[in-house]
Formats: sequence, structure tokens, C-alpha cells
Amino acid sequence: MKLAVIGCGYVGLVSGSCLAEAGHDVVATDNDASRIATLQAGKIPIYEPNLDKVLEAVVREGRLRFTADCAEAVRGADIIFICVGTPPTESGAADLSAIDNVARLIAKESRSPKLVIEKSTVPAQTGEQLKRALQVYARDAGAKFRVASNPEFLREGTAVEDFFHPDRIVIGVEDKESEQQLREVYRPILEGKFRCPVHQPDCPPAATPDFVVTTIASAELIKHASNSFLALKISYANVLADLCERLGGNVDEVTRAVGLDPRIGGQFLKAGLGFGGFCLPKDVQAFIKLADSAGIDFGLLKETERVNKQRVDQLLDKVKKALWVMKEKQIGVLGIAFKPNTDDIRLAPAVEVIRRLLAEGAVVRATDPEAMTRARLALPSVHYSADPYEIARGADALLLLTEWEQYRRLDWKQIRVEMARALVIDARNMLRPAEMKALGFEYISFGRPDQVGVTVMQ
Ligand code: UDX
Repeated sequence: MKLAVIGCGYVGLVSGSCLAEAGHDVVATDNDASRIATLQAGKIPIYEPNLDKVLEAVVREGRLRFTADCAEAVRGADIIFICVGTPPTESGAADLSAIDNVARLIAKESRSPKLVIEKSTVPAQTGEQLKRALQVYARDAGAKFRVASNPEFLREGTAVEDFFHPDRIVIGVEDKESEQQLREVYRPILEGKFRCPVHQPDCPPAATPDFVVTTIASAELIKHASNSFLALKISYANVLADLCERLGGNVDEVTRAVGLDPRIGGQFLKAGLGFGGFCLPKDVQAFIKLADSAGIDFGLLKETERVNKQRVDQLLDKVKKALWVMKEKQIGVLGIAFKPNTDDIRLAPAVEVIRRLLAEGAVVRATDPEAMTRARLALPSVHYSADPYEIARGADALLLLTEWEQYRRLDWKQIRVEMARALVIDARNMLRPAEMKALGFEYISFGRPDQVGVTVMQ
């Protein structure tokens, strides 16, 4: 099938590459000409595990190509995926101007029937607006449009695997033909026959995902509802951590047992520094706004957001309580990305923590396996090193802010030797309190007993 992907950000690049790997003929485009030039030169502007392997293979085999000419991409395709950004406006609502621009461009350039699919996260009713814009701006009598919604549930860091092995594929359609076309697009994945090249040879066959067909408005809502529910679970776990600190429980034990109930599920119940990134925070905010505009007060999500914003304050309180005076204290930071396996620092809690430490006069040294290039631009007054032991050298405190697996395996005995004061504040509950104490650390985390800084009510 001939597909065009408009927008070469995370969603567009992963979707475009994987759809090509699934056997389609894909042209990807973006209005950022320098991004396209980078991609045409064989470089990937983001860090996403396994994307390089898939992309290199499909470009080499001629199934994916990049063009800065959006009009050409539109004209050659039967199916167009809109994957442009929908960043938050000042008010927190989604900015849909990029979708609007693309809609007008598709309308103007199309000479034949097209199925136009919104893949960007958009508020309910965007499909209606998209349909109207396509009709109003159409120039050619041959240009007939059908609109569909196909939200993506890719997680940064595992996006390629998520694409090939989704739990569900959701499509919002208005007619049988669109449904059939989308079934065909996803057939290799739906049939579970598809073996992606990132698979290990002993990888078990993929389970067949559910193919969920809904109205366009439902599909749009499903995306917001999914992300907001994940955020809600995280904030719930974080309040449980606060309670454990006051009442003497261990949040890891509590959430593990709670999550064993299949009606609840154990994922996204990890307490710590809270959720960040460019999806969860903005999607929660946009969903609150959308509900407000529909006359519904989504207080549950407002509280989710409030709890999340407080996590950074709570961490800072722990740091201040332990260090007393912050000015000129040497603080080492392990992890800047909003989560492991990505170089993305957008709305990363670690960035906010570092800003606040610097504002208090602390001297901050930081490391991250992938995010240092981006961090250098956002936080130029931080001293960076790729070596965690150098970050620990002479530090009054070491803050673990992103749970990269390699930090678990550090030689913590050696880290202790390097530090001026053996104080570790683990904002991701990654390390074991008993082991850290046995190594001679003052160890602080969230909602776990046997640590400095925890008040247990008598
Ligand atoms: C999210 C959704 O998971 C994905 O389905 C959607 O397509 C895009 O948004 P992503 O932004 O990549 O994906 O991050 P995710 O893995 O969901 O993590 C979000 C944040 O929550 C991270 O900052 C992570 O550290 C935090 N988190 C996650 C917790 O604090 N506790 C948890 O238990 C899980």
C-alpha cells in the first residue's frame, strides 16, 4: 500500500519505519527541512532503541524514503498518517495548528481519493474539524476524503517493540472501506506472522493484538483516557508512598500486593519522582481542559496533576533536610532523561530538580547515558561527565533521578569511597535500602522504612 507519513518526530519516525518494515511503500515528510536532510543523510535525530536497525533496512530496501516536499508525499499516497505535534498552549489545551496546516495542504494537493488518519494525540472532535477542513479547502474534483483516527500507544524507549507487538490496535472509522484499508495496513501485525528484525532468534511468537473498531470520537477519547489513567495510577502510588512514610509501611510491598489483583494490575504503580515526558503530563492537562470545555469537572485528574507536581517539592525537602544548607554543596545527579532508554528530557522531573538545586546555590554535576547532549543545551551551568564515579567524586549527596539499569550495577562501594559524604537520595526507589545501609550509606528514598528522613508515627 502507498502510505505517506506527515511529521517525522517520535511517532512519525517509528510509525513510518515500522509500517515500511511491515511491507508498505512509505514516504515520510516534515516541514522541518533540516530534519529531513539529517534523515536523508542516514542519521536519526532521536535516540530510540532498535529504530536505527529498522530504519536502515527499510531505507536500503527502498520501502521508506524521506522528502521535504510535503505536496509530493501527499499526491503519491492512498493513505496519509498525520503524525505532527500537538504541543500544549498557554492554557494547557492542545495546539492543533499543525494539524490544521496539514489538513489544508492535503486538501490543496490531493488529486485522488485519500484516507486521512489522525495519529497525533488530539482532543475528541478533531476528526470532525479535520473532515470539514479537507472538504472546504479541496481543489480537485477527484479529491475525495475519508477520515479515521488511529491513536498510537508507543512508549519511548520501547517504541519499536510496541509497534510490532501492541496490546491493541484502535481505529476510529466512519465506513467499512476505511476499516478494510486499515485492517490491510496492520494485517502483518494482526496475523502475528510478522517477525521484526529486532527480535532475538528465541523470541516467542507475538500474541495477536485486539483490533478495536470504534467511532472516531471514541478512538480520540481512548487515547486520552488511557494516558490519563496511567498517570492517575502513578499519582495514586505516590500518595501511598507518602502514607507509608507517615505510617511505617513499605510502598514497594504495598503496591506489589495491590497490583497482584488482576483488576488493578501491577504496572504503573511505581512510586518515586512522578511522571514526566512529553505525553503523560500534556495529555492529562489537555484532557482536563477538554472536560472543562464540555462542562465536566475532571477533579480526579486535577488531583493527579497536583500530586505529580508536588513530587519534585518533596524530593527537594528531603535533600534540604539532609544537607541543611544547600549553598555551595556539591550535588551529583545520576540520570536526567524523563525515564530510562531515551534521550528525551522534555518535562523530565530531573531537569526541574536540577534547576531548583542550582537556584539554591548548589553546585551540580550530572550524568546520563543518552540525554547529556540535550541537557547541555537546557542546563548549561551544570558540569557533565559520562563517568558516574567522577560525578560522585567529592559530592555531598548523590541523587538518582532516572532509573537507568546500569546505575543499579555500579560499584557502590567505590562510589562511597569517592563521595565527600556518603549520602544517596534515590528518587526512583531503585536500590535496596538494606544493601545501601550495609555499604555505609545514608540512604533516602520514597515511602520505604529503615532510612534517614522517614518519620514513623508512634
Ligand atoms: C506514554 C504512554 O505509556 C504511551 O502508551 C503513550 O503512547 C505515550 O505516553 P511515554 O511518554 O513513553 O509513554 O512514557 P511512560 O513509559 O508511560 O512513562 C511516563 C512517565 O511515568 C515516566 O516519567 C516514568 O518514569 C513515570 N512512571 C512510569 C512512574 O513514575 N511510575 C510508574 O510506575 C511508571
